[in-house]
Amino acid sequence: MPHMVESLRIVPLAAELRKQSGVGAEVILPPSMKHVDLDGLSDEERATLRSGLFENGVLVVRSQQGLDPNVMPQIGRFFDETAWDIHSGGEKMVTDPKNILSQNRGARVPRAPQVSIIGKGEWTGYEGLPDLDLKHVSHTEFHETPCTERELEDGLTRPYRWHMDAPLYERLPGYVTSLHSLKNPVLPDQKIRFRSGEVMSIAAGATAFYSGARAFELLSDEEKEFALNTTVQYAPRAYEWMLDCKATEDGMTIARSGQEKRLEDLLEWSWDKVHAFPLVWRNHGNGKPHLQVLGCCVYALRTTNPATGEVTVIDGLDEVRGICHKLTSKVYTPENIYAHRWQEGDLVIFHNRGVLHSITGELTHPSGESDPEKRLFWQCTMASSTPPTAYRAAA
Ligand SMILES: [Fe+2]
Repeated sequence: MPHMVESLRIVPLAAELRKQSGVGAEVILPPSMKHVDLDGLSDEERATLRSGLFENGVLVVRSQQGLDPNVMPQIGRFFDETAWDIHSGGEKMVTDPKNILSQNRGARVPRAPQVSIIGKGEWTGYEGLPDLDLKHVSHTEFHETPCTERELEDGLTRPYRWHMDAPLYERLPGYVTSLHSLKNPVLPDQKIRFRSGEVMSIAAGATAFYSGARAFELLSDEEKEFALNTTVQYAPRAYEWMLDCKATEDGMTIARSGQEKRLEDLLEWSWDKVHAFPLVWRNHGNGKPHLQVLGCCVYALRTTNPATGEVTVIDGLDEVRGICHKLTSKVYTPENIYAHRWQEGDLVIFHNRGVLHSITGELTHPSGESDPEKRLFWQCTMASSTPPTAYRAAA
């Protein structure tokens, strides 16, 4: 007699966690499946997983201790069949000190070179690698006016830098990023204070997310129209160019111009490899508009008058950043942000082309044996061969 087989399910996170953010759901695997096994899912379950991601932006799979790192690139290809077989950050981890992305002192998993190792603290002999001293970056090193000593003592933190995982040069951003927590200490909560004075309590080292769809929804009609007709030109080798720049308090953009590297001082580059993307992207799954912009890396805006086809270029950096900041700052409120409280074993899969994310947390205890903040994560995001689609095609 046939028995009932429970299928994979997508369950939205509790309302007090999701709030108005529109992101966050848990994936309940079939009871017989311990680790995510894409080949072990039925066509129907695969469709459920796919639409679950594009609808909810952030998916959480609990208790994935012992996961094979090679599952993470498979997840990348599952959501994007045009994905290349390399991490969008390149075949190797970024270690050039001239590049701001090297500051976490991360590495790659030798048995899965598409998977980065990030975290905090000293790791000896991990995966046969030379000793690691991983760094959890802090907003205090990147924000123009960081929290004061007293605020830090009081447990305040900030989003470090809102972004999609996108090199903005040569390799296109992945559809998804996956993050797996192998070691995550339980620490006292920290908090973010917003412009309104509201305070949001978050887990120390939480990964914060907001939905690009929610960000778009919050725009005025006039702003929507502007955004739909605008393309963002990113800076050449943006992560080198901005090495000395400092961010606004919300981590959305750069506070003032003047600290950028000169274009002629960057590693060799050419404009044909520098990315320019629409401001508003079409969700690959449900077709909805998402405001997707890396405000710290913007260089110029090109906006088209839909009636005449006339293109206006805005290239004053302060103005470009100011416009992007105005558009994105509406979503920066506690009810629109989901801050993932990591549990060891979590696998979080997020729609990199549909949400923005940021590191948070001050984990600044000195490295060493007694470091109570030691943590270890794997991260994977695969270069795509498909450019993002503008919600509204250019006239
Ligand atoms: Fe990231």
